[in-house]
Amino acid sequence: MSEKEKLPEGLFNESGNEKTPNPCILVIFGASGDLTGKKLIPALYNLMDDGLLPANFVCVGFARREKTHEEFRAEMTEHIKKYSRTKTEAKELEAFTEKLFYFASNFDDDNGYKNLAPFLEDLDKKYGTMGNRVYYLSVQPTYFSPITEKLQQNGLIYDDHDDSRFSRVIIEKPFGRDLNSALDLQSEMTKNLAENQIYRIDHYLGKETVQNLLVFRFSNAIFEGLWNNRYVDNIQITVGESIGIESRGDFYESAGLVRDIIQNHLMQVLSLVTMEPPSSLSADSIREEKVKLVSAIRHYKENEIDQFAIRGQYKEGFVDGEAVKAYRQEEKVNPESNVETFAAMRLSIDNWRWAGVPIYIRAGKRLPKRTTEICVMFKRPPGILFNKDEFNAPNCFIFRIQPNEGISIACNSKVPGTANIIQPVTMDFQYDNFFGKSVPEAYERLIHDCIMGDNTLFAHVDESIYSWKFITPIIERWQEKTFQEEDFYNAGSWGPIASEMLLRNEGRKWKMV
Ligand code: BG6
Repeated sequence: MSEKEKLPEGLFNESGNEKTPNPCILVIFGASGDLTGKKLIPALYNLMDDGLLPANFVCVGFARREKTHEEFRAEMTEHIKKYSRTKTEAKELEAFTEKLFYFASNFDDDNGYKNLAPFLEDLDKKYGTMGNRVYYLSVQPTYFSPITEKLQQNGLIYDDHDDSRFSRVIIEKPFGRDLNSALDLQSEMTKNLAENQIYRIDHYLGKETVQNLLVFRFSNAIFEGLWNNRYVDNIQITVGESIGIESRGDFYESAGLVRDIIQNHLMQVLSLVTMEPPSSLSADSIREEKVKLVSAIRHYKENEIDQFAIRGQYKEGFVDGEAVKAYRQEEKVNPESNVETFAAMRLSIDNWRWAGVPIYIRAGKRLPKRTTEICVMFKRPPGILFNKDEFNAPNCFIFRIQPNEGISIACNSKVPGTANIIQPVTMDFQYDNFFGKSVPEAYERLIHDCIMGDNTLFAHVDESIYSWKFITPIIERWQEKTFQEEDFYNAGSWGPIASEMLLRNEGRKWKMV
């Protein structure tokens, strides 16, 4: 059986239960980075706690600095205590950290890889991991190709058709920095790996509420019938963060918000909300529909970019009652930087279902609160029985991706009494109230799926390429322009005024989130 044929049927097996994971070694490149300590290792710990790690499993941290296994274990123990979703118990912690090992080498040192091969084989013998490998590249994108090349040269990547064992590579975003660099990266990566061995992680796809979009849309007959341009007036997606760029000044200066959030996270969410029903729950069917959707986003004509794509950068201000500095005053940021920390756009999807429905998206740092919400706004009924002004609020479905994960439906109701007063009310479903357990972290689900060989929740290269095709002309246009006074926004506000005007010019406004 080839790797492709081994892929399980998407999110669930036939009985709907979770499946048993395969024995394997997970090697994390960049094991001393923030992501490893804050997200990856705590996610592995929680997976073990939930019985979702294979019994035969070890994790090897690969990084430059010399360190013993014990030192690595002690550091990771502290991180787990701090960042684990579940409460930590000494006994479980010990059982987990016994599965952690450390390997010191530079990413570009041939000798490192030569020694890594026998090191992993020894672990296979001791822990029954059967030669299976998952390599997690939590490194600068410039290392993606060199690392995979060295893994390949040293026999650490197997042929995709090898039935007896598997090797998979998880790469973090960004996948390229524009269309051409993404195409180049893909051609470099595929010299050493088959497409289905590459797992492009987008942690938004690991979020429960994002996954629920498909279940909600396609398992409920009452909603899907309304999900089209006959009933929907507009769709709004907001990815707001109250934090600034934290200590990532150099990353932000080279990336900016569109590359950081919109090209990947927001596009993933958008495609799940608007895609056509897949023919099955298999990874290929779902990803095929997502690709079709992203490819149907209308590209702006040159003169439309300024009209429909708004950028902003935060000035000083107050967030949660605390004074915060301007982006240009952040560490490692050019004091005259023209990098965006906010963007809002009006998109059109050129397909039968969504023709004529504007899609408004916005994302930003230093906004009033952390919130990721999708709001599907419905058209108003004809103002025959009730005057339109009497019920100002159109119906909407709100998917709260975070925080307070859940779904709300806003509709209108009569206020009790003799007067005919109409008031909007909401029906609410909240994950933690209903299911009574905390929602797993995105990285838990994604690492688990990669070990299982299920790439449904990972981005296919075509999604990334089509997304870059739409985004690249916008970032190129912005590179030509310097920021004007009106492009700045106070930290703690919802972005520059032009973002409000984007909707107001069309008689709409952003839904309060
Ligand atoms: C990351 C971005 O991918 O996602 C960060 O690089 C951002 O800038 C983060 O803060 C947001 O993730 P979440 O899960 O907190 O919404």
